[in-house]
Amino acid sequence: DSFDTGGYEHYLLKEIHEQPTSVERTLSGRLDERFSTAHLGGLNLDARELREIRRVKILGCGSAYYAGEMGAQLIEELARVPAHSEPASEFRYRNPVIEADTLYVAVSQSGETYDTLAAVQEIKRKGGRVLGVVNTVGSAIARECDGGIYLHAGPEVSVASTKAFTSTVVAFALLALHFGRIHDLSPADGRRIVSALQALPDQIREVLDQSEAIAELAAEYAGSAGMMFIGRVRGYPVAREGAQKLKEISYVHAEAYPASELKHGPLALISPELPTVALVPDDELLDKNLTTLGEIKARSGRVIAVAHKRPEDRLVDHCVLVPKSEPELDPLLLNIPLQLLAYHAAVALGRDVDKPRNLAKSVTVE
Ligand code: AGP
Repeated sequence: DSFDTGGYEHYLLKEIHEQPTSVERTLSGRLDERFSTAHLGGLNLDARELREIRRVKILGCGSAYYAGEMGAQLIEELARVPAHSEPASEFRYRNPVIEADTLYVAVSQSGETYDTLAAVQEIKRKGGRVLGVVNTVGSAIARECDGGIYLHAGPEVSVASTKAFTSTVVAFALLALHFGRIHDLSPADGRRIVSALQALPDQIREVLDQSEAIAELAAEYAGSAGMMFIGRVRGYPVAREGAQKLKEISYVHAEAYPASELKHGPLALISPELPTVALVPDDELLDKNLTTLGEIKARSGRVIAVAHKRPEDRLVDHCVLVPKSEPELDPLLLNIPLQLLAYHAAVALGRDVDKPRNLAKSVTVE
């Protein structure tokens, strides 16, 4: 039964642990190994129409917006079509230019978020085409869109989004793969992404197996006055979502910054009282990220790295290792330890984990 905690202490922990199977459901029947692509039956857009798209604009609120940022990067990297994510709540207030060759994508777990629904209605009123990336079948946003991708992640009860977030990014990976293969993504690169997507559920299990070690870390750091989350390029939306999750359920202040921006201001905040969670994937930006860790340690900052390879001891206080995917998909796995960190910090502080103060699961009013 999806509506009990299934033996877990909270819905949130249950939903975090459901991710290997919810990702399998998002992928189910959609990967094509023969042609190294993805099939998405609900798009209502044929290859010719998709090829005419010159830009992708993604809209969502909160974590849906951050998942959209990961989606935009996937679309740019795999399909080489400019893509950008924007808070739906801002978009609808700024009289946006609606273009015929832009594909608009609305992201919502509940499918009932008023700001996102209003943005979709505004785009449609002005003749734009909108796809939905939605979890709840038959919801208002799903009904309003011209087509889309259902997540099939199953009901998400806890206010903080975890499994729907991950499935949203997986859905964007499928869209980017499909889009890429009718643009100029090579069969070899398509194959690389198909295999990496197939490997995700087991890799997520490997991260979840570290829950106890992350609980110890969370207990050590939960009393901090605040935490800094940093990442570069693909790592930045991970940092934003990690900071959001910590704020939402533990009420610990958290800031997310691009690692490259630290020296332009927030480095002044670094001290032993403000620990940093750093996303350090083993990719083309590894050396840059390690240099940033050195800058933090030189200011007596404490560092928790979420990495593929443990950096030298002088650069980190703690390290959580995650399995390596393909670089474009690494953000998905780097995010999972941050969910556990936020969850265990909230538990350590005695928070109301599934129903944090001041928040509703879906904001259906203006
Ligand atoms: C996520 O942890 C938050 N509770 C919140 O930011 C949420 O993602 C946002 O309100 C959008 O909800 P939706 O996906 O149902 O539209």
